[in-house]
Amino acid sequence: MKTIWIVGASGHVGSALIKHLDCMQYELIETDKEDVDITNEEQVTRYMNINRPDVVINCAGYTDPQACKDNVDEAYKVNAVGVRNLAQAAQSIEAKLIQVSTDDVFDLAADRPYNEFDDMNPTSVYGKSKAAGERFVTQLMTRYVIVRSSWVYGIGKDFVDDVLNAANDPAVKTLDVNINRRAVPTSAKELVNVIDEFIDDDHYGIYHAVCSGGSCNQYEYAVEILKKAGKEGQLELIPVTESEDNRPEYSVLDNMMLRITGLEEPLDWKEALAEYINETGGIE
Ligand SMILES: NC(=O)c1ccc[n+]([C@@H]2O[C@H](COP(=O)([O-])OP(=O)(O)OC[C@H]3O[C@@H](n4cnc5c(N)ncnc54)[C@H](OP(=O)(O)O)[C@@H]3O)[C@@H](O)[C@H]2O)c1
Repeated sequence: MKTIWIVGASGHVGSALIKHLDCMQYELIETDKEDVDITNEEQVTRYMNINRPDVVINCAGYTDPQACKDNVDEAYKVNAVGVRNLAQAAQSIEAKLIQVSTDDVFDLAADRPYNEFDDMNPTSVYGKSKAAGERFVTQLMTRYVIVRSSWVYGIGKDFVDDVLNAANDPAVKTLDVNINRRAVPTSAKELVNVIDEFIDDDHYGIYHAVCSGGSCNQYEYAVEILKKAGKEGQLELIPVTESEDNRPEYSVLDNMMLRITGLEEPLDWKEALAEYINETGGIE
């Protein structure tokens, strides 16, 4: 049985992995900041050497873009140096590292979906620190998979909760939703299915893993959430622009590597959303 170390286990993606990975198939070791602080090189190395996982999945990160902008050192400490610590420790015991990354490593200015062969060109501190983490992985490791995703929902507070909570609250009549950014909503379950494939199989490199079937802005996303939950008409959606200079931001990822290496792509985003809302009511 393979031993899998899930780093950042209580975050959105970490919790989704623990919920959806088959614990009969793998021995899961789950840690968070209070167990192992990834910015502490000695702690990471010691934990890696004692537990000797076959696969390390790094879901830890400093993930709030505004907090990254306000605390630049901390952003690079967690998203770059923390990842370096995991990468060198994993390499030293020949473990595989699966690093979860983001669409924010791109410049958000394209007019077509970004594939894995496009150059990173992040504009935010969050994106730059995540890109720096990716570079450490590619420079230090031989057995790695970088999985980039976007707009993950399904565990913990997320956009789907925000829309449905607003629709369920009789005191709330309207909700502002951003129309500037276009990306692909991806269910945590679909993302975990992709990550699961990388645990056992020797597919290495950088992979995009977002739901298929096109993209949307948050307004279109919210319309679809209300529709799938049968709550159309319960909430008025107000389109707003949120980026600093009102510049449109485009961060649609193309799952080119999954497609051209013959791996299964995630479900269509509208189907995955319907499945999630049918199974859970949409609020977890
Ligand atoms: N959610 C999305 O939509 C999305 C989309 C694309 C990519 N991603 C990527 O997926 C990864 C996980 O995202 P998420 O949404 O699950 O983030 P999250 O909910 O913010 O979880 C991040 C986890 O990392 C932990 N952490 C922070 N600093 C740490 C440290 N120094 N040592 C150990 N653990 C630390 C946090 O613990 P504390 O809470 O105690 O700080 C938290 O449990 C990130 O790398 C993110 O870039 C997420």
